[in-house]
Amino acid sequence: MQLLFIGDVVGSPGRDMIKTYLPKLKEKYRPHFTIINGENSAGGRGITEKIYRQFLESGANVVTLGNHAWDNREVFEFIDGAKALVRPANFPHNAPGKGLIFQKFNALEIAVINLQARTFMPALDCPFTEAEKLVEEARERTNIIFVDFHGEATSEKQAMGWYLDGKVTAVVGTHTHVQTADERILPKGTAYLSDVGMTGPYDGILGMEREAVIGRFLTSLPTRFEVPKEGRTQLSACLIDIDEKTGKARKIQRILINDDHPFYT
Ligand SMILES: [Fe+2]
Repeated sequence: MQLLFIGDVVGSPGRDMIKTYLPKLKEKYRPHFTIINGENSAGGRGITEKIYRQFLESGANVVTLGNHAWDNREVFEFIDGAKALVRPANFPHNAPGKGLIFQKFNALEIAVINLQARTFMPALDCPFTEAEKLVEEARERTNIIFVDFHGEATSEKQAMGWYLDGKVTAVVGTHTHVQTADERILPKGTAYLSDVGMTGPYDGILGMEREAVIGRFLTSLPTRFEVPKEGRTQLSACLIDIDEKTGKARKIQRILINDDHPFYT
């Protein structure tokens, strides 16, 4: 089976890219299962119920989150009923939502785990310990397990990839908004990519208006970052070919669509 994972959708430019390109990607790659990271999908901060439903209507099977999970307070009203929404599992245990969810694809079940890293990020429970626990739980039901590891440091992401090699189908990083070119299949069959990259404004800085970001570097003054309303856009994703009998990955391929990397049907 083919699994498509689309990286961090930023604001309405990112959502527009999903509307335009998800049907084209589906036609070209015929994925059986699609996951979108939506933690920046509502104006760059968090997610709303309407956007979550739009993702599902566009053809996503699961939506993952990250450190911006709670930035739009509307999330608290629907997360407990949102069966296809997963937030970092190593958030405090009394936080709403779930860090591991199961979704069906034909007779198969796919487990999706979301974890957040700790290097240069807020202090949370250990993602490695949490991963071990959840992988054990997931493997009682399925050997197809996808991990979105939301983090800043490539070292921590690589460590997670190697730590889970052979135990999960894929460990793919999110959060930095810059796609890395280190996609590979680890020796025991886990697909790995340090960061899948971002879907949204192409000429911003990590998807935000450049002026405010540059201004903060120049002055260290607090500035509010906004998603540019106009301009060029991009989509970042990866496609994983999975042996559904063993849950191991056969191949991982990066997908990048922007003016410098045009989409060909
Ligand atoms: Fe993030």
